[in-house]
This record gives sequence, C-alpha cells and structure tokens, in this order.
Amino acid sequence: MRKNDEKRFFGILRDLEQDPRVRKLECYRQHKGNTTFRHCRSVAVASFRMAQRLGWRVDERALARGAMLHDYHLYTRQNKLLHSLRHLVEHPKRACRNASRAFALSGKERNIIESHMWPLTPLRVPRSKEALLVMLADKYCAFREMRGHRD
Ligand SMILES: [Fe+2]
Ligand SMILES: [Fe+2]
Repeated sequence: MRKNDEKRFFGILRDLEQDPRVRKLECYRQHKGNTTFRHCRSVAVASFRMAQRLGWRVDERALARGAMLHDYHLYTRQNKLLHSLRHLVEHPKRACRNASRAFALSGKERNIIESHMWPLTPLRVPRSKEALLVMLADKYCAFREMRGHRD
C-alpha cells in the first residue's frame, strides 16, 4: 500500500495558507484568542499526523482542504450562552455553505466540514477516514488551545 505523501499534503496546505480567501480566517478569533486561521492550520497538521500514526492511507488534497476550511463560518463566536449553543450545532453547515461559495469542493470535502462537530450533529456523520480524522483532530486542538497551547 502506498504511504501518505507528506510533501504533497504540506504543499497543498501551503498553497491554501497563502490564498487570500483562506487568510480571511485571520480576522476571526476562537479558543482563548487564537485566530481561526491558526486553529484550522493546527487541525490540518494534527489530522495528517494522526493518519500517519494510525497507518491510514488518506486523500491528501481532501484532508488538507477539508481541515483548513472546516471552520469557514466567517464570524467570531459571541460570549453569550444562547449564541454559543447555536454556534456549536449550526456553524458546520454555515462553514460548508461559505466554503462551497468560495471553492469548488468535492462531496468528501463538504462532508469533512459538515460533520466535524459530530456527535453534536447526529445527522451529519463523518463518512470517510478524512472526515473522522478532522472530527477528532478538531476536538484535540480545541482542547489544547483552551488550555493556552499555541502551535
Ligand atoms: Fe468548528
Ligand atoms: Fe474547529
């Protein structure tokens, strides 16, 4: 079985990082003041490292794009209880809608974005290894960032 192509994954990620449509994420904050841009980058790297550790062969392009755009909701969550609760459940759908307008996404990439808050969104289930990895890496990175860790 072919191994994951690290050069290809980080090449795609680097192109995304330089894309002005993705750089918009620098304007929004989450997890103790970290920018959404940095959070998404951390999730992309963590999900790829996780795939390597598990020995899972992944689609590098779908993983990089899905992870980097998973929080493309383009607002900063307010510190109000009702807004926070709605955000938890609704932002993956909004992120997917916004990202689909800006990029031509595959079905797999859309599912990575839409399902990243599963199981909080029971009907939007991760349907690929890549979606499962981003769903797990997002929780791992959010937890670390809330404890003040920055990559
Ligand atoms: Fe999210
Ligand atoms: Fe996230």
